[in-house]
Amino acid sequence: DLTIVGPEATLALGVVDAFKKEGLNIFGPDKKATQVESSKDFAKKIMAKYNIPTAAYKTFYDLESAWAYVQEQGAPIVIKEDGLKAGKGVTVASTLEQAKEALDIAFAIENNSVVIEECLFGFEFSLICLVHNETVVPLEVAQDHKCVFDGDKGPNTGGMGSYSPVKKITSEIIDEAMNEIMKPMASAMVKEGVPFTGFLYGGLMLTEKGIKTIEFNARFGDPEAQVVLPRMKNDIIDVFEACIDGTLDQIDLQFADNACVCIVLASNGYPVSYEKGFPIRGLETFKEHEGYYCFHAGTKFKDGEIVTNGGRVLGVTALGDTLKEARANAYKAVDWVDFDNKYYRHDIGKAIDEA
Ligand code: AMP
Ligand code: GLY
Repeated sequence: DLTIVGPEATLALGVVDAFKKEGLNIFGPDKKATQVESSKDFAKKIMAKYNIPTAAYKTFYDLESAWAYVQEQGAPIVIKEDGLKAGKGVTVASTLEQAKEALDIAFAIENNSVVIEECLFGFEFSLICLVHNETVVPLEVAQDHKCVFDGDKGPNTGGMGSYSPVKKITSEIIDEAMNEIMKPMASAMVKEGVPFTGFLYGGLMLTEKGIKTIEFNARFGDPEAQVVLPRMKNDIIDVFEACIDGTLDQIDLQFADNACVCIVLASNGYPVSYEKGFPIRGLETFKEHEGYYCFHAGTKFKDGEIVTNGGRVLGVTALGDTLKEARANAYKAVDWVDFDNKYYRHDIGKAIDEA
């Protein structure tokens, strides 16, 4: 009766357009609107046209001019391959050498283009909103940890863990993000003839010069969804249906006054190279514990068992009255499951301001 689309690649291929053509009920943006995530250049052009704050940028189609620009700008600088890269096409280069390496890799791919951006400094957070045309309703804020190693070191990943709420992000900051970024973007998309319905994810940076947009995604974040949904009091189906029917403005979203932490169990070697196909043990333990969830990411059935099938394998998630309690619960539950090459970060949700 209702299809909810998770992955960006499916949205970018136009699954929503195809379903609608057949008269099927589906939640998510159509192919054109998904460009807000699938094409960095598309998103950047709209932000520039409508004065939505974001890092200064330029798009390049060849190595020589990209490298000349990087040398002129200096490091640190951010190199982003255009198109969908599952969170892995971005290099925050602290030296020119790193920038050159990223450009070499990007332009080794035929017909590739890169967006080169000013490096923003500050506190990063994810503000995910339900959007139907110009109606924009924010969910609770979450923060994910992008880097693969403890202490936010190592290459970027799709996200190694997350937590919610994020106390540092006050209601004033949320208001500013809504008024300067999320609502203007939804309106801009309507004006540009690409109205958005679905989750619009703002990857935002609280900088010294105000809030700036790092990126938009056209879907619920992973692993942000894992920590926001368990805190939601509404029946999510009602919420999706209101969004599709255009009655989102009548929904009163309610969240519990608790906290949630998700720790991603990954395959050792992710995001570079890793093995798959290892049996996963202990999943049944979650059934016996209320307030604990194990979300599947890269898993599959094989010969009657569940085996690892990706870099990010599971999202072990727990609620608690406080962030500290939720974190302790989540790390306890990490020990319930096991598979060969299991890897995870030990400092999820340990932001200094909330310790
Ligand atoms: P994106 O895929 O655009 O979200 O980029 C992945 C990650 O790279 C972001 O979550 C940030 O941590 C980092 N990043 C991206 N763009 C910038 C920027 N302009 N300045 C600083 N960090 C950035
Ligand atoms: N965790 C970031 C994302 O889903 O893109």
